Amino acid sequence: MHIQVDRPATLLKPLFVPQKLLMGPGPSNCPPRVLHAMSLPVLGHLHPECCSIMDEVKAGIQYAFQTKNALTLAVSTSGHGGMEASMSNLIESGNTVLIAVHGIWGQRAANMAQRYGADVRTINIPAGEYFCMKAIEAGLSQHRPVLFFITQGESSTGVHQPIEQLGLLCHKYNCLLVVDAVASLGGVPVYMDEWEIDVLYTGSQKVLGAPPGLAPISFSPRAIAKIESRTIPVPVFYWDMKILGDYWACFGKPRVYHHTIPVSLLYGLREALAIFVEEGINKCIARHQMCAKRLHNGLEKLGLEFFVEKEEARLPTVTTIKVPRGLDWRVIQKYAMKTYCLEISGGLGPTVGKVIRIGLMGYNATLEKVDLTLKVLQEALLHARRPHTNL
Ligand code: GLV
Repeated sequence: MHIQVDRPATLLKPLFVPQKLLMGPGPSNCPPRVLHAMSLPVLGHLHPECCSIMDEVKAGIQYAFQTKNALTLAVSTSGHGGMEASMSNLIESGNTVLIAVHGIWGQRAANMAQRYGADVRTINIPAGEYFCMKAIEAGLSQHRPVLFFITQGESSTGVHQPIEQLGLLCHKYNCLLVVDAVASLGGVPVYMDEWEIDVLYTGSQKVLGAPPGLAPISFSPRAIAKIESRTIPVPVFYWDMKILGDYWACFGKPRVYHHTIPVSLLYGLREALAIFVEEGINKCIARHQMCAKRLHNGLEKLGLEFFVEKEEARLPTVTTIKVPRGLDWRVIQKYAMKTYCLEISGGLGPTVGKVIRIGLMGYNATLEKVDLTLKVLQEALLHARRPHTNL
């Protein structure tokens, strides 16, 4: 055996990770308590202590989602994987599904559903708007889907989609409701059982303030019945909720090995959920709304224009502002990062080049951080307006 690949010189240097303030659409900064938890010793993924932590995480997710669903767990994946797990379990080839597209997440969901062989129908509105009940009912009545997908917090546009009546509506049409709450959970109300949501998922890295890598998800008894009625197994083993549910002891049976859970991330999410539980849902939502109000007032004072025109439709966790005419958003973003190590983001999907996005999530949703972000943005705008400012 000959060494044909030299030791990479980059790995012989110390790891360098700068301290940045993440005021974009996520991930957000983790509280020190979460970071500390992740430095605790690694346990085996089926050790009793690890299983107890999984039970605690499950209880925390049930609280955060306001659900008593037995099939509630965290998938070892980013928020995107929550979408994938929903589609993989609920769709069988040939099923008609209806996707609400009002930003990138609806587009992604349609793409995923197609890959599982669904007959995908969409309802569409321009970026920056939200769906009214009438349009959704018209879609359900026309297409008669088995599943309706909608994003509550469209982080690409900054829209907060109202969803409280949708479960009832979907069930009237014998259709399951899947809600993406990756960017919204904890910043706006979501009451899974009361609102009759069949599948709800979020990401660990947004309001909850754990690192990316775990996606809390829950399935209603109706959603489980759909999985039970499948004629072919879930096509991707990794997403199969019947096996994953057994790994998380959701069905009252002994745990069965499915995969090796990222235990350090599990500790992080456990602590993030503990912090969330200590604060309480309503206080956490109120804090995000208070910070968003302060941010929005400040942005107006800076003469900036909101991308989402209707005030009630603005998502507290992700604010989108139009890039001022004649300015390059990349200059603004770069100035904030270079001068203050502060992240603000550009657009995503349909809003690329059109908006600047500011995130207020979890540990970063404080009045001090809002004020700092406004100050940095004001300076960055001045900088971008100077003649001959380059990237
Ligand atoms: C990711 O969730 C983003 O909105 O950029």
